[in-house]
Amino acid sequence: MYTYIGPIKELITLAELPVRGALSDDQLHPLKNYGILIKDGTIEQIDVHEKLYEKAQNLNAHLEILEEDFCALPGFIDSHTHICFGGSRARDYAMRNAGKTYLEIAEAGGGIWDTVTETRKATQEQLVEDIVKRANLLLQKGITTIEVKSGYGLSIDEELKMLHAIKTANTKTEATLIATCLAAHTIPREYKGNPEGYIQLITEELLPVVKEEKLANRVDAFIEKGSFTAKTIKPYFDKAQELGFDITVHADQFTTGGSAVALEYQAVSADHLEASTAAEIQILAKSNTVATALPGASIGLGCAFTPARELLDHNGTLAIASDWNPGSAPMGDLLTQAAILGTFQKLSNAEVLAGITVRAAKALNLEQDASIKAGNAADLILFKTASYQDVLYHQGQLQPARVFKNGKLVF
Ligand code: NIG
Ligand code: FE
Repeated sequence: MYTYIGPIKELITLAELPVRGALSDDQLHPLKNYGILIKDGTIEQIDVHEKLYEKAQNLNAHLEILEEDFCALPGFIDSHTHICFGGSRARDYAMRNAGKTYLEIAEAGGGIWDTVTETRKATQEQLVEDIVKRANLLLQKGITTIEVKSGYGLSIDEELKMLHAIKTANTKTEATLIATCLAAHTIPREYKGNPEGYIQLITEELLPVVKEEKLANRVDAFIEKGSFTAKTIKPYFDKAQELGFDITVHADQFTTGGSAVALEYQAVSADHLEASTAAEIQILAKSNTVATALPGASIGLGCAFTPARELLDHNGTLAIASDWNPGSAPMGDLLTQAAILGTFQKLSNAEVLAGITVRAAKALNLEQDASIKAGNAADLILFKTASYQDVLYHQGQLQPARVFKNGKLVF
């Protein structure tokens, strides 16, 4: 079954870009008046419209002929979200804006713990429904692959409930959901003052089940004051590594130390890094660990952005993700946030777009590089404009006109 889309005024494939380092917009090479031929959900060929259109007609392809000016980009990847949650943290938001800090609210028993209480109250079915709703909102915004973390259950049963909910939700949305086990999000009340006890529990009784039931192949932890330290997390990450999980870390959000843990475990990504020192950024930039900026958390908390420019100038790999969660990043709008990060950190269009596509694919260790090229899944976005530059210029206000997932028109 063939589908053909064309003519596309400007096609940005993001193929063959270096995975590391600074990028200039000259490296994007917009392909003018191109078409995309899709076979059974996979990109078969891209070529100039006149040539490929004729081939598509001969193949009896389903034709999506574009009568107006459209740009095409690969489907976006949001490589860090917490869209499996119950309740709201509007009260935290108001408290922070009235002067309390995120860590103060957490220490006073609010913060993540509020969401744990609400998520524990929710049934698995309710969580599935909420994840699907949020995933479909993201899909409409062009995000065709979404990482989703557990981490608001914080007991064996409740973490498994979340991971099962993510697995089921993946069958009920056209978006691809990639689960991550974040059981080490914070120390649950039941283990107050005993992080070692909680870590022992999830290391011995949760990780093997997650592996066995194939609920996730990624494991995450929050290395932060009040959560876990390099020392307390060790047994958990050692076990995760032994079981063959990819490791990712919430690192250097408010205090430093997390990025060193990410490096020690050769993590696929180290995320946040708002508090990283120049020296830490430079060491990270030399490694194979993708640095993921989460501008939604900076905007949600009113704090510094990740030093993305510095990281790229030292030849690092930068991904950008939304961190959508009810606490620190309630907005959940990747394109807006990535565009804003670009203005504050002086990032080129190429750097921002790579950060939410091909470099985000690297952060998730995906098999395909997420660019528009033959052999890759036909995950595509069409924007109704003649110039791709408009996409970031409008800072999220130019919404996708059409979204294709595996060659299927989903919005
Ligand atoms: O990535 N930093 C820790 N975890 C989340 C926030 C979770 C929450 O506040 O509910 C984050 O910002
Ligand atoms: Fe997060």
